[in-house]
Amino acid sequence: MSTDTLDPPKTTKKPANISQAKPTDRCPAISYQEVLDTDSRPVPEELRIVTIADLPDEPIDSERYTSAEFHKLEMQQMWSRVWQMACREEEIPNVGDYSLYEIGDSSLLITRTDANTIKAFHNSCLHRGRTLRDVDGHAKEFICPFHGFTWNLDGTFKQAPCEWDFPQCTESDFSLPEAHVALWGGFVFINLADEPQPFDDYAAVLKQHFKRWPLDHCWKAVHVQKTVAANWKATMEAFIESFHAMETHPQILPYSGDANSQYDVFDENVSRTITMMGIQSPHIPDVSAQEMMDALIETSGRMAEDSDQDTSVPSNKSARLHMADINRAEFGQLFNMDLSHASDTEVLDAILYNLFPNFVPWAGLNPNIVYRFRPNGNDPDSSIMDVMILMRYAESDPKPDPVPIHKLGIDDPWANAEELGALGGIFDQDMGNLPYVQKGLKASRKGMITLWNYQEVRIRHFHTSLNRYIQDKM
Ligand code: FES
Ligand SMILES: [Fe+2]
Repeated sequence: MSTDTLDPPKTTKKPANISQAKPTDRCPAISYQEVLDTDSRPVPEELRIVTIADLPDEPIDSERYTSAEFHKLEMQQMWSRVWQMACREEEIPNVGDYSLYEIGDSSLLITRTDANTIKAFHNSCLHRGRTLRDVDGHAKEFICPFHGFTWNLDGTFKQAPCEWDFPQCTESDFSLPEAHVALWGGFVFINLADEPQPFDDYAAVLKQHFKRWPLDHCWKAVHVQKTVAANWKATMEAFIESFHAMETHPQILPYSGDANSQYDVFDENVSRTITMMGIQSPHIPDVSAQEMMDALIETSGRMAEDSDQDTSVPSNKSARLHMADINRAEFGQLFNMDLSHASDTEVLDAILYNLFPNFVPWAGLNPNIVYRFRPNGNDPDSSIMDVMILMRYAESDPKPDPVPIHKLGIDDPWANAEELGALGGIFDQDMGNLPYVQKGLKASRKGMITLWNYQEVRIRHFHTSLNRYIQDKM
């Protein structure tokens, strides 16, 4: 078993455009870029980019979250044309494996049709419409359970009973219709449009930034999926800003720089939040380095908390550097990689990207969390949230099998998923808001929500991008 070595990154010292930001644009506490100046290792250039967004700041109609009409518009105009993460490639490793992906009324069979090809078939029999499959599985061919019409694994029509009885159809008419497929980072993406924007253009920023943190050489170590009693956008928006930490997650403030977070908008499809760990919130009185370390170990849910290394912070060292050193050693051991060149920020901070509309991968060299948010069928009042945790492994090691999906119902707490560790409790704090967000949006006399300028810029960005689809300004 050999160990992979991470090379030092290409770096830039200072963001070129940082001087363009007005002092009032940001929390006056220490910024992420100032903390990067003190990183113990060279920092990747992607993390030195600071964007300055100029987006509309009008209030947003709360009916976007509650109305069946808006949901319908979203399905017709947006979900029908965007790239959507359907599954991980390792979930369908063998020829004939298929995974069901559903969005609104659409149902797709994501199928490995040969060693190097994955197709997305519309899961609807061309005879009288029965879904061909109702759960994930493996097939040599797709035989419809109703009358037995059969398709080959590559989607071509194979046979039907009494073929003399449908002279009006030719075999070429009867191939299973397909959605477009793109593979990136070990994920399978689908697009329902006839002629979608190429994935490479759509996700160009994401592809560029994640070169340093490839997600394809990872395996899915955790996958929990929960039905949430709130619209998918309200649910997602609770996970792409750190502004709510002060009120909703006060236990993380001793080690989490909530208001110091950096928010970036890169193009129509990609945005990110970076929230520092090992930097205390400016909202609370000063804490000592050891208090910071102890709180982090107890409640963060994503540090090397089971470390047998000494977590006493030496008097000549910052808590942030000590945490980073522990994580470099622990994650390196976990991944069988030499992470000695990994910067502090890459092994510590919460670096969350969003690929419009609903794919939220965390970057960095830690067990990478991935969120996905989508409507629950056609119900505007509930959503399905997926949480995966991806682990790296050495090139020379065999890829471990992915875990099956652990499904939680609308009333099940995340804490029931013990594999999430302390994250479950943090998510349950978010769930303590979301059903009441949905209720309050319906009760609103104002009928609008108001978004803060900087810390909620990603939500404004999301709605600006959504408008392009809804208003058909593509
Ligand atoms: S509906 Fe599928 S074979 Fe009849
Ligand atoms: Fe939260």
